[in-house]
Amino acid sequence: MTEFTEPLTFKSGVTVKNRLMMSPMTTRQSFFDGEVTEDEIAYYKRRAHGVGAIITGAANVQAGGKGWPGELSVADDAMIPRLQALASGIQAAGAKAILQIVHAGRMTERATLAGQQPVSASAIPAARPQAETPRAMTDTEVQATIQAFGDATRRAIQAGFDGIELHGANTYLIQQFFSPHSNRRTDQWGGDVQQRMHFSQALLATVFGTVKTYAKRPFLVGYRISPEEFETPGIRFDETLKLIDQLAESDLDYLHVSLKRYDQVARTKNYQEKSILAYVAEQVAGRLPVVGVGQVRNRQDVVETLRQTDLVAVGEQLLFDPDWATKLVTGHDDEILTAPFATLFAKQRASFNLPLATFLAERYQSTPTV
Ligand SMILES: Cc1cc2nc3c(=O)[nH]c(=O)nc-3n(C[C@H](O)[C@H](O)[C@H](O)COP(=O)(O)O)c2cc1C
Repeated sequence: MTEFTEPLTFKSGVTVKNRLMMSPMTTRQSFFDGEVTEDEIAYYKRRAHGVGAIITGAANVQAGGKGWPGELSVADDAMIPRLQALASGIQAAGAKAILQIVHAGRMTERATLAGQQPVSASAIPAARPQAETPRAMTDTEVQATIQAFGDATRRAIQAGFDGIELHGANTYLIQQFFSPHSNRRTDQWGGDVQQRMHFSQALLATVFGTVKTYAKRPFLVGYRISPEEFETPGIRFDETLKLIDQLAESDLDYLHVSLKRYDQVARTKNYQEKSILAYVAEQVAGRLPVVGVGQVRNRQDVVETLRQTDLVAVGEQLLFDPDWATKLVTGHDDEILTAPFATLFAKQRASFNLPLATFLAERYQSTPTV
């Protein structure tokens, strides 16, 4: 079994010093236009010393793909200098810096897009209260968005990041093209499961073409997926296994499976005998490293996750316990914070600036924010 302290060299040649990654978590601390703030750099640096890599919170690749206020942006060359400060800040603390890139698709609203209607594969609103109906993208727009992911990759390379993670999870645009709920298209971008994988296939071709042209040193490309949707129609686990097959055959450096809990069992019938990660490991069969995530809080969780995966991503624990990875690596397990996250938030609230504290208050349903 893999020890979390073992280094790993990815296909691209990028090496991480251990198997711990900080999971992508937006801080909502960027400027109104998505430019990196000093607070944001300090936040990531504070958490970078023990982990092998930090995956940043999502950064939008196009203005029309912005998901929320305070989100990072990599949609314009003007963002490069401050992204460079973020990457070098993380790297100076000893971790690899991976920029997560995203287009929100229908998971945004006009208020965030300066009045513009959100876009998606089809004009179907998400199954959530007050979801706005998006406009279906034209073929030209789809191609431009794929190119925007390529341009964002180039900017990440120019800013000195060690890699990017394609955010194909958590119901955002990449997932929307794979989902039979949000993608009802009848052109080259929609149809049966194979045809709904056309978008991710074209995306990978563009992104890898960009890496080949611009990267002068090893640069990794990871891909995050969500294995299932609750909507009907929606992504079922057997379809995800087909997508995983496509991804495993590509040049990707890792596959990141977004889960609430690392030992989560699928909702799809016929796939409930073992955990989702166990099925994923079986499907991947060593073709690329897998990253597990979800409620990893202590050494036991890390060990359990690594039974099925090659790397472990950790989110909330690092949010509240910035020295967590170092505590684990140096054997100071007794100093790891164990209280429920809502309790930790209530205690630490004053240490977060207002955008992050307000965001976390919504999440942990704590006391009013002002
Ligand atoms: C505050 C916060 C922000 C998040 N932002 C992102 C994000 O930008 N991109 C993403 O893929 N996941 C995001 N997530 C999900 C986490 O990456 C992770 O998958 C999830 O929190 C489960 O892991 P954990 O239990 O270790 O926190 C976010 C989670 C939290 C708590």
